[in-house]
Order: sequence, then structure tokens, then C-alpha cells
Amino acid sequence: MTSAPPVTPSNAAPGVILVGVGIGQASFDATLDELAQLAESAGFRVCDKVVCRRRAPDAALYVGSGKADEIGALAAAHGASEVLFDQALSPAQQRNLERHLKMPVNDRVLLILDIFAQRARSHEGKLQVELARLQYLSTRLVRRWSHLERQSGGIGLRGGPGETQIELDRRMIAVAIARTRERLERVKRQRRTQRRLRERRGAFNVSLVGYTNAGKSTLFNALVKARAYAADQLFATLDTTTRQLYLGEVGCSVSLSDTVGFIRDLPHTLVEAFAATLQEARDADLLLHVVDASNPQHPEQIDNVMQVLHEIGAAEIPQILVFNKIDALPPERRPQHPRDVTELEGRAVTRVFVSAHTGEGLGLLRQAVAEAVAARLTVPTHDEGDSQFGTITLPINNLIIHP
Ligand code: GTP
Repeated sequence: MTSAPPVTPSNAAPGVILVGVGIGQASFDATLDELAQLAESAGFRVCDKVVCRRRAPDAALYVGSGKADEIGALAAAHGASEVLFDQALSPAQQRNLERHLKMPVNDRVLLILDIFAQRARSHEGKLQVELARLQYLSTRLVRRWSHLERQSGGIGLRGGPGETQIELDRRMIAVAIARTRERLERVKRQRRTQRRLRERRGAFNVSLVGYTNAGKSTLFNALVKARAYAADQLFATLDTTTRQLYLGEVGCSVSLSDTVGFIRDLPHTLVEAFAATLQEARDADLLLHVVDASNPQHPEQIDNVMQVLHEIGAAEIPQILVFNKIDALPPERRPQHPRDVTELEGRAVTRVFVSAHTGEGLGLLRQAVAEAVAARLTVPTHDEGDSQFGTITLPINNLIIHP
């Protein structure tokens, strides 16, 4: 949850040219719509888009020099001051392109890091972004200076001036990384204590996960009637918010957490740095996997979310697929049944169609969550006097304490 004001790109915003290069990858987005949304979320004004296909990236410029000239001409015609690539550039390609085009050239990874840096509000969120940026910087630095390192062999113990500079920069970054990790570790310890407390209370933890902009915060607000920050921006939420959700259906409360949104090719440094936040999802008893049903790319987005869930060890947690934004669907695409069972990675999962905006389907969703809670409360136990294992149903209030 953040309290940042929404970013509206105005004419005063710096103009960018977007570039997408298809190299046979399945996830290639020829519309560049997501990159445009990311750029606007970061406060840029999108002037134009260039899409091309290649068999392999050019080692020096990623695109051919003719295409690079075309990008440069477009940037000049629109008065754009920066170029953004949808694909990850190597440090050398980035540097060569900047020289060729005489303007800053960045890629999707850096753009996402930038948005995270703008959005982070909590102490923990800021630390996590700082760590990700330092790690990104350290890889760039190492490679950027490697040509100087190779020259250092015969020039005394500490090498030439180039190496001294690299060593200094590296050491400074390494110290900063270590210090940030330490501070994050302290925050993680606090989180672990809070979690243990919740576990001791027997609380049932539900986490909202989903692709960025799927409507997690809006749904969270609609369910708990809180006011988490929701905006038509990518990554509006970076900090985990937890509230109690009372389920009259089973007469108990569950803890409901809103988490950071996932995205295709989420930079690795970010997955690692946001481990503490993502831990909320890993420790959940139930995941509400929110999907933007109105987005034509939603099947790929579900795959991307599953990929991140695998990475953080949360793919096996029971899920309910929440197909949100059904109010935005044309009549012919509206579901025939508001709740059904579908297959997800070979597992049968409950799917509920809702609109966090209109409230449609929220009753059914609460019912599905209540059923998951009730199923958890029917736990296997050992029957004394009999060697057979049986099951007993625990009274709900034995397990859940209302804080
Ligand atoms: P991140 O913070 O990026 O992960 O986003 P999020 O998944 O939390 O999405 P958020 O709740 O911020 O909503 C994103 C956009 O979708 C906002 O403009 C919402 O108003 C809109 N939205 C959310 N739910 C609905 C819905 O049921 N119907 C429609 N039409 N729009 C919705």
C-alpha cells in the first residue's frame, strides 16, 4: 500500500521512443503496450514505438546500425530525450547505443527498478529496492570496467589507476550491499516474529497475488473495506498490507495480505531483494490469484505469476483463481457460471468471476475462502486407544483469535 499520487504523463514529461526486438521468444509483445504502460508509470511520455525482428541480437547495438539510425531519426523528429528497449541489453550494448544515438538508452529491467524506487514507501520497501539497484549496478560496473582490469597484470600489486578505481567502486558497492542486507535482515527478523505470533494464534493467512494491475488492491479494499492505494499504474503497491477479514459464513477472521504485483521477466535482483515481501505469499495457507479477465494477455500473465510462485516456493499452496474486472468484459465474453473449477498446472482449482469495482461475485469469493478455511479446520489427528488415524473437526474459535 502506498500513498503516492498517480503519475499522469504530461507534455512536460520527458519523451521516449520504445523499441521491441522479436528474437523468436514466446513472450514477445509486438504491441509494446506493457512497456508503454511501464514507461508512463515511470513518468515518461511515449512518443513512438519501433518493432523489428532479428535472428539474433547484434553484439554491439542489439539492433542493426540501420535500425539504430531509424530510432535516432524518430527521436529527433519527436524531440524525445531517451530510448527504452523491451529486451535486456548487455552493458556493452547499452553503452554503444548511447554513443550511437547520443542520448540515454535504458531497458525494461532498469525501468522496473526505477518504478520500484519511485513507489517504495515503507522502510522495508526502500531497503529492498536499494539492494536490487546496488546489485544491478555492481554487475554493470564489473563488466563496464573489465577491459581495464585486464591491463593491470604487470603494473605492481594494486594494478594501474583503472583497477584502483574499479576496486574502490566495487568495495564501496560491496560495503553498501552488506550494510543494506544487514538492515533488511533486521526487518526480516521482525517479520518472522510477527508471523510466529500469527501462527501461534492459529490465524489462517490468505495472500493476494497476481500480475501487476490485475486489481489486487481494489479487491483487497472491497473485501476488507480498507483503503489501500489502487491506481491504474503498474506496481502501485509495493508494500505488504495485512488486515483481518471477517467471514460470517464460518464465523471467524482470516488475515488477508495484499502483496507486490508480478510481471513478465521480473528482474532477478528484484525477486531476490523482495524475498521478505514475497515471503508473505510463501507462508500463506491460501492464495487468491487475481487475474485481469479483461486483458487479452491474461493466459500468459497467469503463466508468469506461476513462474514467480515456483521461484519463491509458493506454487504448491492451494489457490483460488479470481477472474476480476468482469464488468469490463463484452457481453459475449461474460462467464456462463460465476464459479467453476478449472485446471492449473494439472491441479483442479476453484475459479470465481468477480468485479472488485461493482462488487459482483464477492459473496461467492468469500464463500470459496470460507470453504478453504473450513477444509483446513478438518485436520487429521491421532486417535488414542486406536492405532488408526482419524479426522476430527475442530471448533473454529479454538484456532482463530480475533485480535
Ligand atoms: P499493482 O499494485 O500494480 O500490483 O496493481 P494491483 O493489482 O493492486 O491493481 P489495482 O487494484 O491498483 O488496480 C489496477 C487498475 O484496475 C485500477 O485502475 C483499478 O481501478 C482497476 N480495477 C480494479 N478492479 C477492477 C474491476 O473490477 N473492474 C474494472 N473495470 N477495473 C478494475
